[in-house]
Amino acid sequence: MDFINTTDEVSSWEEVMLLYNAALRQVETKMQILNDEFQHVHQYNPIEHIKARLKTAESIVKKLKRHGYESTVENMVKYINDIAGIRIICSFTSDIYRIADMIMEQQDIKVINVKDYITFPKASGYKSYHIIVTVPVYLSDRVVDTKVEIQIRTVAMDFWASLEHKIQYKFEGAAPDHIKEELVECSKLVADLDARMLSLNEEILSVNEEKETEKKGA
Ligand code: GTP
Ligand code: MG
Repeated sequence: MDFINTTDEVSSWEEVMLLYNAALRQVETKMQILNDEFQHVHQYNPIEHIKARLKTAESIVKKLKRHGYESTVENMVKYINDIAGIRIICSFTSDIYRIADMIMEQQDIKVINVKDYITFPKASGYKSYHIIVTVPVYLSDRVVDTKVEIQIRTVAMDFWASLEHKIQYKFEGAAPDHIKEELVECSKLVADLDARMLSLNEEILSVNEEKETEKKGA
């Protein structure tokens, strides 16, 4: 960790990482609770799975450098929003907005920023719903609002994003044009697949509802 020079910086680095770790666990628990409640009420899990990670010191330093900031604990807290990151993978695009709304309505959560790359995908073809929030972390003598980046996407969007990330990494961000074009094509297939799976699911749900109504009527 080449940016930690003094004993003060070491203790503040450790304290800051403790806060991010706590914030991450809080958001993860909140998501699991929402998923459990949803299962209880609607007999269905909107969340397929959750991935939570803390950014490594190395990648924090890299990002600060990339943005032209000196590597200090102060700068990382101020300028890096994804030190604590959580990714929520769900089955259907409709779940994404449902989950996003449920999070943003929670009283102790403050929404800092929302990016809807589902309605407005990136030129790369990237689709996902991003929310930067803060959650209050209660320490022994104070409460610290701590940032967490939440990414919500479907299984298909996640599949695309992992491969695209691997490719960008391999080519250090300069993938050949034909690969980039193929990725854009694949992202269209992903959007089409998501739309067709959603409408299939809606059809199944409406059949279930009809059966329920028949049962009640009988
Ligand atoms: P950074 O990209 O993290 O510097 O932040 P930003 O302020 O540009 O925010 P943005 O919403 O663009 O990206 C945040 C995160 O989303 C990234 O760290 C990635 O995890 C993910 N992401 C954004 N764009 C892409 C993309 O084109 N491909 C993939 N695979 N992931 C992306
Ligand atoms: Mg970016």
